[in-house]
This record gives sequence, structure tokens and C-alpha cells, in this order.
Amino acid sequence: MSDFKKSTVYQIYPKSFCDTNKDGIGDLKGVTAKLDYIKKLGVDYIWLTPFFVSPQNDNGYDVEDYYNIDKRYGTMEDFEQLVKEADKRGLRIMLDMVFNHTSTNHEWFQKALSGEEKYKNYYIFKKGKKAGVPPTNWESKFGGNAWEYVEKFDEYYLHLFDVTQADLNWDNEEVRKEMQKIILYWMKKGVKGFRFDVVNLISKSIFEDDYEGDGRRFYTDGPNIHRYLKELNEATFGTDAEIITVGEMSSTSIENCYEYAGENSHELSMVFSFHHLKVDFMGNEKWVMVPFDFQKLKDILFQWQTKMCQNHAWNAVFWCNHDQPRVVSRFGNTQKYWKESAKMLATVVHCLRGTPYVYQGEEIGMTNPGFTDIAQYRDVESLNHFKILQQKGLSEENAYAILQIHSRDNSRTPMQWTGQKNAGFTEGTPWIEVTKNYDTINAESQIEEESSIFHHYKKLIQLRKENDTIAYGDFEPLAEKHNAVFAYKRTYQGETLLVINNFYGHETKWDTEMDLSGYECILTNYPDCHVDTVLKLRPYESIVLKKA
Ligand code: GLC
Ligand code: CA
Repeated sequence: MSDFKKSTVYQIYPKSFCDTNKDGIGDLKGVTAKLDYIKKLGVDYIWLTPFFVSPQNDNGYDVEDYYNIDKRYGTMEDFEQLVKEADKRGLRIMLDMVFNHTSTNHEWFQKALSGEEKYKNYYIFKKGKKAGVPPTNWESKFGGNAWEYVEKFDEYYLHLFDVTQADLNWDNEEVRKEMQKIILYWMKKGVKGFRFDVVNLISKSIFEDDYEGDGRRFYTDGPNIHRYLKELNEATFGTDAEIITVGEMSSTSIENCYEYAGENSHELSMVFSFHHLKVDFMGNEKWVMVPFDFQKLKDILFQWQTKMCQNHAWNAVFWCNHDQPRVVSRFGNTQKYWKESAKMLATVVHCLRGTPYVYQGEEIGMTNPGFTDIAQYRDVESLNHFKILQQKGLSEENAYAILQIHSRDNSRTPMQWTGQKNAGFTEGTPWIEVTKNYDTINAESQIEEESSIFHHYKKLIQLRKENDTIAYGDFEPLAEKHNAVFAYKRTYQGETLLVINNFYGHETKWDTEMDLSGYECILTNYPDCHVDTVLKLRPYESIVLKKA
């Protein structure tokens, strides 16, 4: 059985990982070419974001054919080769299943549009409230109303995301059977993990105007969601104990997560929740510029850690993915303390209770690119909101400032392999610009350098394997109200770990009120480590102490 509590997952955004045929787009062969690098880091699973046939309006999250590979990424042979080569190195492949919606190019949607009733029932078509007024006032996550009018039927279809991403009707049993078939197909190819895209949005039931928010309270964690997940589990991956699963839970509640990822609930192995990554939002509004709220960040992570533990449920733990800005730019420091802060942030996440996810480039401290021209952006969400912000009256300058902080493209720039042209990502023209700092921030130099961020990640991943307290221990928050320290305690079978971090670029003091004499320091981001009851922490200092 796979012990996902001791495992770490490495996320690859294939488009930006490694290009082998000079078309400027990363491909599956590129992933295979870099397996030794990934192995060196010590991870267990590789999650690949979607590479299925797709018009790429949302970089593959708009799937046109779940059974085939988009030519831009390669062929089925390339995929099989990747699974084989990964297997040789003890690495397992996790695929990204986008089951809330399909591309409007999908055969099912095309058949629906041509009037085939069977396929119209695969999607959510509804009459407008009256002429010219959509069924509800819900907003698409990418901006604008979430319904698109189809004149031929005088009806609208629902798209919670882009207008080319039509929501599927999970209440239709045929749809659920189709989804099962897809999973079984990829299981036969040796896939050992599945990530389910915005999966807590699949059960919709109430179609009413929302006068309090954007509509999410009517379709998030819907009435049949647990039933549908249990059914999917039982019919597919639940039959293979080696398979791990993770659900991306959009605006979920912790109570629902006890069940999604409960030890005995037979739904998913774990969940991604995002509350801790909204601490630089205003409520749910991300297109704003506000400093991050440190106290809130701690409160949220502490609450999830404590309660998921008490309720025997399991979290995926992470700072970064392809939808989030780079964490060192977000909560760390990209100048003087770049290295220290990147390592500190890594330690905070990797010693938590949960399965850590590392997003490509995070392990070498990649930063946001700081794009200054809209022509440099590619992401549909960013392009839409750039317009919306200006329609709301913001100056172009302010709209840029917000994009530079929050755009999803911040994490989608090419992986920085070397200090050479295009960071060694491609010999062609990259589909999105490379971040300018690749001459100093790249994988090649960090593999060489023993004190690099890369090697710190490697140590953390290894520590989880060797140390049962990190993998299985209970969680207890420390220094809850301290204005700079992020600290917690993990305990298991008589062993205690203290994970202590200065989250800021200035020195800070913390009176631990503990006798720390019996503790040894097992990890730090400074060359030495001074331990005392009253701890003096240097900028971004991070220490892990152990007492057996
Ligand atoms: C998830 C994906 C994101 C995508 C969206 C719609 O949030 O991570 O990239 O745009 O779902 O599929
Ligand atoms: Ca390519």
C-alpha cells in the first residue's frame, strides 16, 4: 500500500517544464528527460497538469478528448514511455482529471449543440429568467456572467469558468459512468494517482440569484457531492490500494473536508484547501492589492491542522501551484534574504501534518516574473480581469500592479534549468517569457551548491521519510499570537519536534517558556543554531528541534 503520509508530490506544468522539439512548448518527452532531476529531489509522485486534447483556452483545463494526448505535448507512446521510465526510478504518475466541465469542443457538447437530447442532458442548459436575462446572476470565476446564451434553443448553458468550459451535469448517471470509464482507462496505463480539478463543484442543485456573493454558495459542496465521490471511488481507484487521490476543493468548508478526506469515508486520500492562500485577498476578491495578514495565515493553518487531525482527515499541504503566485515573492523576500526566506517557507509547509506538494521551480526559489506589458500575459483569467479592473475605474498602472502580484502567469513562466538562453527550457521561442533572473536562479547551479534551496527541499523530503513524527505525529500550535514567529509542535510515540520560524526579514525574540536543553537541532537555514528558552531568531531563521 502506498504510504502517502511519507510521500511528497512534485507538480509539473508540462507546457512550461521542458521543450524537446523547439516549438517553445514543453512536452512529455521533456518530462521524461528530466526524471533523473526529479528523482534527485527525492519525491515519490509526479502530478502532471492536463495534457489531453484541448484547444488550450485554459491551458488544458478545457478538455476536448479525455482519452488522447494533445499533439503539442506528444503522443500516447511518449506517455507510455514516461510511465515506464518513471517506474524504473520508483516514481509514480498522477493525472489531473477535469471533471466539472469539458471544452465546448468536446464531442459531447458538439452533439448537444446539434440538438441531441442525450448529450444536452450531459450539460446544464436552462431557460433564462426572461428575454435577455440569464437563469441566475452567478459570476464566472474568470469574469462576467456564468451563463452563455444559445439562440437555437433559446436557452443558456452554465460555465463556472471560461465560456468554452461547459459545466457537466453530474446528476445524470450517464455522465458519472463516462467519468468512471475515463479513470479506468488511465488506471490500465499504470497511472497511480489522480488529482480532481474543482471537484467539490460538481453537485449543483439550487439555481437561484445570489444577492450576497457570486453564486458559489449555491454550487459549492453540493447536496450529492459525497455520494458521487464515494461512487467514483468504489467503481474505480478504490480497488487499487496503491493509488492516491487528491481533490481540489474550491471555497470548501472544513467540515466537508473531514468527509472528503476522512480515513474511513472512502472518498479521496486528501484535499487541497485554499483558505490560507486568501490572506492577501479582500474576502474572496483576489484582484486587489493588500499586504498579507500574518495572523490570519497562522490562524487558518493552525485551525486546519488541528481539526483535520482531530477528525482523522488528511490535507495536502502546499504554498504553490500553477494558479498561485510564487511563494518567495508572496510571503518571502526576493532580494537579500531570498535563500533564507525560501528555505524557511519550505520548512513551514514540509513539517506540517499532511502530504507536501512542490510545484516545479519552487525547489529552486523561482520568483514572479514582474511582467510590465499585457502582451507578456497569456492566462485567460488575467487577460479578462485586466479589462474588468480598468472598467471599474482603476488606472492601467494599478491594474498592472495587481496582475504582477496575483496573476496565475506568475507561476507559469518556464522552468529555469540553466543560465543559458531561455534558461535551458527551449531552443525555440518560449510560449511565455522566461523570468529574467535565470542566470542566478537555476537548477544547474543549485544542484552544485550544497547550501542551495534545492538541497534544503531535498533534506525536508528525506526527513519525512525517516522521521515518523513528521509523517504521523499530532499537531499543536505554538506562539499563536506572536507577530513574527510561525511555530508548532509535532509529537509521536514519545518524540517531540519543534518547528520554529521567523517569518520576517528582521530579528525577533520569542520567549518559549520551555526548557530546550534536551533538544537537538536537526535542520536550519543558517550555518549555526543557538537554542535557548528566550529564542533570538535572525531574519527568516528557521529551525527544527528534536527531543526523543
Ligand atoms: C482549477 C485549475 C485551474 C483551472 C480551473 C478550471 O482551479 O487548477 O488552473 O483554470 O480549475 O478548470
Ligand atoms: Ca515541444
